[in-house]
Amino acid sequence: MKRRMKLVFIGPPGVGKGTYAQAVSQRFQIPHISTGDIFREEVKRGSELGRKVQYYLERGLLVPDEIVVEVVKARLSQDDCRRGFILDGFPRTLAQAEALEGFAPPDLVLNFVADDSVIVERLSGRRVCSKCGAIYHVKYMPPRFPGTCDKCGAPLVVRKDDRPEVIAERLALYREQFSPIISYYERRGKLVTISANAQAPEVIPVVISTIERFLRGRGQL
Ligand code: AP5
Repeated sequence: MKRRMKLVFIGPPGVGKGTYAQAVSQRFQIPHISTGDIFREEVKRGSELGRKVQYYLERGLLVPDEIVVEVVKARLSQDDCRRGFILDGFPRTLAQAEALEGFAPPDLVLNFVADDSVIVERLSGRRVCSKCGAIYHVKYMPPRFPGTCDKCGAPLVVRKDDRPEVIAERLALYREQFSPIISYYERRGKLVTISANAQAPEVIPVVISTIERFLRGRGQL
């Protein structure tokens, strides 16, 4: 049977969604689609979309639903999503979840949770590659050579929204928006919650085995 797997990763900023999604993408050969990465790339290119979303990104505010939904719809219609995808950072509002249900209903939604103190420490130490977007942490996932990406050699940078005052804004927004999304997917029997307090090398195998169990249940593994 041909496998098609539509995954959604949700959870607070800095819980590690991008880190786990990179590992799952490699393991199952499906694209990792991060709305945050798409927007940051557009800002870097100075495109019309980039100019529209820059204000929100720099302040940790949500980009309006109609913009995000159109971007996701267009991205999921590309060829590489035929066998599935991992959506990281979408949906973030109930309106986005309802829209997604209409054009690409997810099979499985992984909800990552961690303590606030863990999250703040992760975000304050995060470094990202200015070219390929690979994610590092000064303490937990340091690159081989400080300040340089292991994968492509480009310089590592601090994201503009990883400043302490913006982190606080992002966490507050998350708390406001998320409980209806969690109930929405719980009601549909699609939600699995995973504790992400442990280090990434311990969390990643739990994520992979959860997905494998799901696939086995559908006779796809
Ligand atoms: P986005 O890029 O999606 O940011 P986010 O959801 O706030 O999530 P992050 O990327 O900050 O965290 P993550 O959970 O992926 O953690 P990571 O793996 O990097 O969105 C940015 C902005 O775009 C939003 O504020 C908004 O403006 C806009 N936007 C995006 N989507 C939108 C939408 N749908 N609607 C409206 N607006 C939208 O890990 C964090 C750090 O911890 C790293 O340094 C990593 O190395 C480290 N780490 C990860 N896991 C572990 C672990 N288990 N142990 C130790 N360290 C770890």
